[in-house]
Amino acid sequence: MATSFTTTPLSPTFGAEISGVDLSADLDDATRAGILAAWRQHLVLIFRGQTLTPDDLLDLARGFGTLDLAPPFDNQQSSLPGYPEIAVVSNVEEKGAPIGGLGAGELAWHSDMTYRAAPPVGCALFAKEIPSEGGNTHFLNMNACLDALPPDLRAAIADRHLIHDSRYTSAGTERVAGDRFATVDHPLIITDPLSQKPILLLGRRRQSAVVGFDEMQGRELLSALWEPADQNRFVVTHSWKPGDVVLWANIAVMHRRDAFSSAERRVLLRAQVASLNQQSFTA
Ligand SMILES: [Fe+2]
Repeated sequence: MATSFTTTPLSPTFGAEISGVDLSADLDDATRAGILAAWRQHLVLIFRGQTLTPDDLLDLARGFGTLDLAPPFDNQQSSLPGYPEIAVVSNVEEKGAPIGGLGAGELAWHSDMTYRAAPPVGCALFAKEIPSEGGNTHFLNMNACLDALPPDLRAAIADRHLIHDSRYTSAGTERVAGDRFATVDHPLIITDPLSQKPILLLGRRRQSAVVGFDEMQGRELLSALWEPADQNRFVVTHSWKPGDVVLWANIAVMHRRDAFSSAERRVLLRAQVASLNQQSFTA
């Protein structure tokens, strides 16, 4: 029998807190389908008070689709030892070496790994250790950003593509391995595989360029397209507690992080859902 859970919306347009589900348990098909339906509708789902092992986190992500390998960050140790699909997001150093990536600084608006031909459709992030303040994550609804564009601007980008480049992480640091110089172009408007809604795919600002535009023209267009992000419109903010699990639609929302004190510990584990079961990344 399906677990009945409660869905509490976090804003008028997206984001919801789900209560009444233990994500470490084996979810039955009906419960998993219910969570997926809520994820498709609300794009960002927050679950409080969870206790997950790394295998639990992978089982959760695997329940929705195929897994992606963790991306390289700005140091060699970006995945959890023994778990190549789990990225460690942390500022902690042990024995003089970082245990994860992305440090303690601010992270700029981005979607993860859009420099891939098929970026992950969703991400699952589990909070193990959280500082006393700072480090909030903000989510931006890219369907709302698209709908907010003036009609002439939306028409002007209908057939335009944007170049996505992996050289820099969202912390502004250079990647050291793997995808370091991966580059791909995607249409600026795509159908999000999770929500099946049209969205504006911006990826990240640094190194992006509009195909067919010179630098000046491209910068002007990108400034107009980034306006809702720069103004923090259509945003839901998550203030983390240990035990939180957040599922977010990686393509349909962008995310960014506030800085926090480097004197405090912050440790999160992230898994990436490459594609939903029986679904692909389509323009
Ligand atoms: Fe990210």
